[in-house]
Amino acid sequence: MEKIGIFYGSTEGNTESVVKKVQKSMDNANLHRVDTAAINDIAKYKTLIFATSTWNTGELQEDWEAFIDTLDEIDFHGKRVAFIGVGDAECYQDTFADGIGMIYERIVNSGAVFFGSWAIDGYSFEASKGVVNGKFLGLVIDEDNEPEKTDARIAVWVNQIKGELVMLDD
Ligand SMILES: Cc1cc2nc3c(=O)[nH]c(=O)nc-3n(C[C@H](O)[C@H](O)[C@H](O)COP(=O)(O)O)c2cc1C
Repeated sequence: MEKIGIFYGSTEGNTESVVKKVQKSMDNANLHRVDTAAINDIAKYKTLIFATSTWNTGELQEDWEAFIDTLDEIDFHGKRVAFIGVGDAECYQDTFADGIGMIYERIVNSGAVFFGSWAIDGYSFEASKGVVNGKFLGLVIDEDNEPEKTDARIAVWVNQIKGELVMLDD
């Protein structure tokens, strides 16, 4: 089965715990931390998931901050990209999960096909760069306030993207 590359940055381990659960329910995903990843690690995958938390009120997680320039060097034509954002909707209502929006903005015109968008229903926040056309760009998880919802959200989203990837393969 074709492998999927999940690239993540995680300061306190929340995003890491989320991507490990996603990997477990996918069977065919490899995890890469962006603080040790190289350009070739990304280039070899057709299907990618970029996962990040948001820090310092609307800023990218620090490892992603250091890595994001690498994306400019990658040819995304023929690649499919999804996102996972981890944030805190209660303390950071106006910048909730902004990080995924910042990565998206960087590659929006790169030729990548985006998949895995996710309804904002059931989340309570004011504004997010992670919302495009009324939907989150990808799975959004709030480990600080709604950890009890994480497993179900992951299960539904992974099921959704498996279906989307089958359609994209057709
Ligand atoms: C100083 C500080 C700033 C933060 N800023 C944001 C923010 O702007 N938006 C957001 O959604 N979450 C914000 N968070 C919450 C983190 O993204 C959240 O705790 C996340 O689970 C951390 O994941 P990580 O351990 O994978 O880095 C912030 C947390 C701290 C401590």
